[in-house]
Amino acid sequence: MTTVAPAPAGESLFIDGRWRSAAAAFRATDPADPRRETGAYSAATAADVADAYAAAAKAQPEWAATPAPERAEFLRQAAAAVEAAAEDLALAMTADMGKTIRDARAEALRAASIFRYFAGEVLQSAGEVYPSADPATTLLTLSEPVGVVLAITPWNFPVAVPAWKIAPALGFGNAVVWNPAEASTGTAVRLTAALADAGPPAGLLNVVTGSGAALSPALTGGPRRGAVAFTGAGRVGTSLREAVADRNVKVQPEMGGKNPLVVLADADLADAAERIVSASMFSTGQRCTATSRVYVEAAVEGELRKLLIERIRALVVGDPRDEATDVGPLASRAQYEKFHHYLQLAEAEGAEIIAGGRTGTERSGYFVSPTLLAGVADDSPLMHEEISGPLAVLQPVAGTEEALEKANDTAFGLAASVFTSNLGNTMAFLRRSRAEMVHVNRETTGVEPHVPFGGLKASSNTDREQGKAARAFFTNVKTAYIRSA
Ligand code: SIN
Repeated sequence: MTTVAPAPAGESLFIDGRWRSAAAAFRATDPADPRRETGAYSAATAADVADAYAAAAKAQPEWAATPAPERAEFLRQAAAAVEAAAEDLALAMTADMGKTIRDARAEALRAASIFRYFAGEVLQSAGEVYPSADPATTLLTLSEPVGVVLAITPWNFPVAVPAWKIAPALGFGNAVVWNPAEASTGTAVRLTAALADAGPPAGLLNVVTGSGAALSPALTGGPRRGAVAFTGAGRVGTSLREAVADRNVKVQPEMGGKNPLVVLADADLADAAERIVSASMFSTGQRCTATSRVYVEAAVEGELRKLLIERIRALVVGDPRDEATDVGPLASRAQYEKFHHYLQLAEAEGAEIIAGGRTGTERSGYFVSPTLLAGVADDSPLMHEEISGPLAVLQPVAGTEEALEKANDTAFGLAASVFTSNLGNTMAFLRRSRAEMVHVNRETTGVEPHVPFGGLKASSNTDREQGKAARAFFTNVKTAYIRSA
C-alpha cells in the first residue's frame, strides 16, 4: 500500500498520484459565519484537466486487466480509509456547506458502506451464457470497463454522492477524473486523501477542483470519454449531455426533484408528521429527495397541521458543529438568496405562513427558519421549482384520486411517498406514481446502495446509479460467439 501525504495547503489538485496547485486560487468561507475563511484551494485550468485525462488514460488499461478480486480489495481498503477518516470528513462537510455534525457523520459512514458494497458487487457475474443455434458455438456476453469516467458531483452530499460514482467506476475497471462542486472542495480534498491512503495506482483517480462551469469545455471536450456521471442542476445536466452527444458518450445525470408526500386519512398521523419534518427540514432541506409538497386528505388536515407545527417549532436551528442542532445554515449565499426569493414570492402570492418564514434569521450565517406554507396555488413556482431549502407546502386533497393527480403534477420524477394503512391505496399509489422511487409510510429521503437510484422525467434519463444498475452504466457489453469444434 502506497501512502500519499495529505494535501499541502492550497494544493487541491490530485493528478497522476500527486498533489499540486494551479496558478489561480479560490477561497472558501464558513456558511455558519461567512466572515471566517475555511480554506484556499486551486482553480484548475484546461491544461490541468488535460493532464488529469492523460494520467487516467495511461493508468486505466492496466487497472482494467487487474483481476477483479484485487480491485475489490482496493475498494475494501478504501472503505476502511473512509471509515477511519469519518470524523475529519464530517468536520470538513460542516465547515464547507454547513451540514450538521450528526448528518455529516452518518454520511461519511454511509460512504464507507458504499465502497464496501461495491467491493462485493464487482465480484458478481460479469456476463451471461446463452444457448446458440450452432451446437459448436458458445454464446456469451462480457462486461468491460467503459474507460475513463468523468464524475461531477454536488455540494449537498459531498462524500456519499462521489462514493456512489467513484466506487463502481473504479471497481469495474475504469479510471476517474473527478470535478467536485466548488462549495465542498475542502471535503473533496479530505476524501481524496483517504482514498489515496488505500493505494490506488497513480493516475487512477484524478481530482480537478474549481468551477465546473469554467472547466466544462475542457472536461467535456477532447477525445471520446467513456462516461459522464453527474449530479446537479437540470440545466447543467442538459448542457453536459449536449456537449458529449456528438461523441455518443454515456451520461448518467441526476437532476433533482420536487418530491410529493401524500397523507391519507387512514394514516398514522404522528408518524407521518415526524417523517415529513425529517424529509423536508433536516439537511436544511438541501436533498434532491427532500419532501417539498405535502398533500393531506382534507378530513385530517387540521390534525396533521397541528402535529407539524409542534415538530417544526421544536427543531433546533444553529451551529452545525453542535450535537444538538437539527438544522444548520444553508450552504452558501446563493442558496440563502434563493430561499429568500421564494419567501418573498410566498408573501407576494398571499400564501399562509404556518411556521417559519422570515422569523429567527437574524444571525451572521446563512441561517433560515424551517418553513411550512399553505394556501399556495397549484401553478405557483413554489409548487414546481426545486427550492433546495427547508420549505414545504401543505395542501388539502379530497382523496387518493386528487392526491395522485397533484403528486404527479410536476416536471420531476425522483421520489414520492404515501402514508396510508390501506393496501388498495398503497397499490394504487405504487402503480400510478410517476416517480422512480416510491415510498410507503416512509419519508421521501434516504437511499440504500444495493438498489437502483435515479429519476423519471426531468430528474434523470433511463440510466440508474447504484446496485446492479451501476455495472450496466460503468461497463459496456461485449457479445462473444466462440466456435470450438
Ligand atoms: C439526495 O437526496 O440528495 C441524496 C439521496 C438521499 O440521501 O436521500
